[in-house]
Amino acid sequence: MRNFSLLAGLVLWLTMDVSSLLGELICPLPVIENGRLLQQAKEYRENDVLHFSCNRGFRRTEDRPSKCTKVGMRAEWSPMPECEPAKCRVELPPLEGTTYASTLKNVYYPGETLNVTCGEGFWISSPQDTFAETTCDDDGQWTIRPVCQEFFCSNQREYNVRWWNVWRNQQIRLGDTARYQCVTGYKSPDGSNVAKCTRNGWEPKPLCQEITCPRLEVENAIHPDVYKQSYRNDDWVTYRCMEGFTGRPTRTCGQNGWTGDSQCTVNQKPGFLAVSYQKPFLQSPQIGLMLVWQCSP
Ligand SMILES: *[C@@H]1O[C@H](CO)[C@@H](O)[C@H](O)[C@H]1NC(C)=O
Repeated sequence: MRNFSLLAGLVLWLTMDVSSLLGELICPLPVIENGRLLQQAKEYRENDVLHFSCNRGFRRTEDRPSKCTKVGMRAEWSPMPECEPAKCRVELPPLEGTTYASTLKNVYYPGETLNVTCGEGFWISSPQDTFAETTCDDDGQWTIRPVCQEFFCSNQREYNVRWWNVWRNQQIRLGDTARYQCVTGYKSPDGSNVAKCTRNGWEPKPLCQEITCPRLEVENAIHPDVYKQSYRNDDWVTYRCMEGFTGRPTRTCGQNGWTGDSQCTVNQKPGFLAVSYQKPFLQSPQIGLMLVWQCSP
């Protein structure tokens, strides 16, 4: 046996030597346990990459590509093209905000599951989720990365927010609040002008809503717009009074709805003049005479 390996070594050395003498380094074709070559070249020279993949349930020991590399006088594969049983790992103790159902092991095999729970202010899978059941797949990858992310609200100002007390790169966590003001024509929907960071993002949503006023009818007046149903900030409407009424009511749309209170009032109808008088006085009216009259309804 010993003699044989000595001989093999000698042959190997000789071939290496010959190829290196020729200025060529050739890597031996590897045999990959639990894996296979994806394409096979006739010979592999320095810097050639070996394309191989591992069988189901196995994964490459190294993620780096295996390259034919010169080592001293010889050429060999680096890293060695090898496959190992696939497994998933978790970091123990888990990162801040992450809790595992089991903290006894940190290596899991394909098919095994792990329950992950996130702390207040953290999320997994989607910003609304604080729990996930993740499975180690055949490639040794978790179906869901078992790490909770800290929740942040966007620090980008919405286009219709004129100003808010959030700095450009400020990190805003769940429950944080900010005061803000809307651009002209927009208002805070709840009137508070305070934004709060929630799992659904900033609330109220949207922070600034367009100021609109629904169509308004004024008593005894004719609306100048036949169909218009909605008005914007600073829009104003001048009404025409109905027959028998006078006035020129005007309403202006603003942040708190319509303003203005002018009305159409009833025309003074001509009535019958009922004058009560005493004949003698009328016959010879005198200065200082007081005349009392009354309009009939
Ligand atoms: C993980 O959570 C699921 C759903 O709540 C539950 O059915 C399962 O038993 C849990 N598994 C472990 C290992 O705790």
